[in-house]
Amino acid sequence: MPKVYNWQIGREMDYWYEGSRPQRQVGAVFDTNKCIACQTCTMACKTTWTSGKGQEYMFWNNVETKPWGSYPLAWDVRILQMLGPQRWENGVYQGKTIFEAAPPGERVLGYLPEDLDYAYPNRGEDETNAPLNEDKFYIRLPHDLWFFYLPRICNHCTYPACLAACPRVAIYKRREDGIVLVDQARCRGYRECVQACPYKKVFYNHVTRIAEKCIFCFPAVERGYQPRCMRTCIGKIRTVGFIHTPEQADPENPMDFLVHVRKVALPLLPQLGLEPNVYYIPPVHVGNVRFLKMLFGPGVERAIAAYKKAMEGQDPELLGVLLLAVSTDRLIYKFRVAGGQAMGYDEKGQEIVRVPLKEPIVVRPPLDDKVGAYRYNIT
Ligand code: SF4
Ligand code: SF4
Ligand code: F3S
Repeated sequence: MPKVYNWQIGREMDYWYEGSRPQRQVGAVFDTNKCIACQTCTMACKTTWTSGKGQEYMFWNNVETKPWGSYPLAWDVRILQMLGPQRWENGVYQGKTIFEAAPPGERVLGYLPEDLDYAYPNRGEDETNAPLNEDKFYIRLPHDLWFFYLPRICNHCTYPACLAACPRVAIYKRREDGIVLVDQARCRGYRECVQACPYKKVFYNHVTRIAEKCIFCFPAVERGYQPRCMRTCIGKIRTVGFIHTPEQADPENPMDFLVHVRKVALPLLPQLGLEPNVYYIPPVHVGNVRFLKMLFGPGVERAIAAYKKAMEGQDPELLGVLLLAVSTDRLIYKFRVAGGQAMGYDEKGQEIVRVPLKEPIVVRPPLDDKVGAYRYNIT
């Protein structure tokens, strides 16, 4: 197999095709500390793209409660169990990726979920990591008892397992933005892609008999707008844009700043080897760092420290970028923080949004002179 460089695991690895990065790569950062599992993103996607026949069970975007929630059932536990115990050393992954651990005659280590695995999209919702008993404390930080929400979409991976596995070459990665798509005219429903994607973000349509997946709302992205699930996010947890490799990182680009400069956002299961392009700010309240490291790799402690610093007012730049998330439905290419405000700019350098780092307090007099009426605070 050809060798490609995967910066998230700090080394070269085997991949089915030669490495060829797109001209630019879409990506997103999700702040798990702000997600409230309202599922607005899920429904925004569902009503836009998957309300047809054969798509009933599809959630291109889903939000699951960790540690128990998963859709399809136990997708993460099952692939990690198949891979077996592996280890990191000084930021370099020493274990096998799912490409390197592929059984003889296969391109990727994976499994095909059964129909029933898709039966309960929100199983484990709001369940804590352990039962409540007298020995457990939930007043101190980080908590002994915890759960957190993990929103998930296709990661539009740099080395997609779905693409590598398809014998029909029906899945492709766009040169112009790195979005991974299924060519529906080529697909013959072999489902190798469903078996190979460890995140289980390709779905088989039993009516049309072809594979379907998140398209990163490319018609919107092409016009400079954010995908549906991003711009409807109630918790404003989602930063979206284009991301570079660490060597080409632009500190004025919000994605590069979060991932490469402050290193506050981490990939999901980087050890699998796909170089996923959706990143997560890990939850600060979770008492089990080993669990977080299993999910997000070795950078967890550093990311949490950087995040806390911003929340304590010691890093206005980081705070500013985080406040720009979902402040506009346009794609932000560059940002700047100055004078207590954060500004976002479009591709041409035009300012498209401006937010204060601290919301002003406005005291409104009960009598509105203009309309001659009183307004009472009834809360
Ligand atoms: Fe393919 Fe899965 Fe990666 Fe999406 S997350 S690009 S479906 S391997
Ligand atoms: Fe759905 Fe678009 Fe979000 Fe993908 S990017 S999950 S297609 S709304
Ligand atoms: Fe290929 Fe998946 Fe279709 S393996 S043929 S894209 S179902």
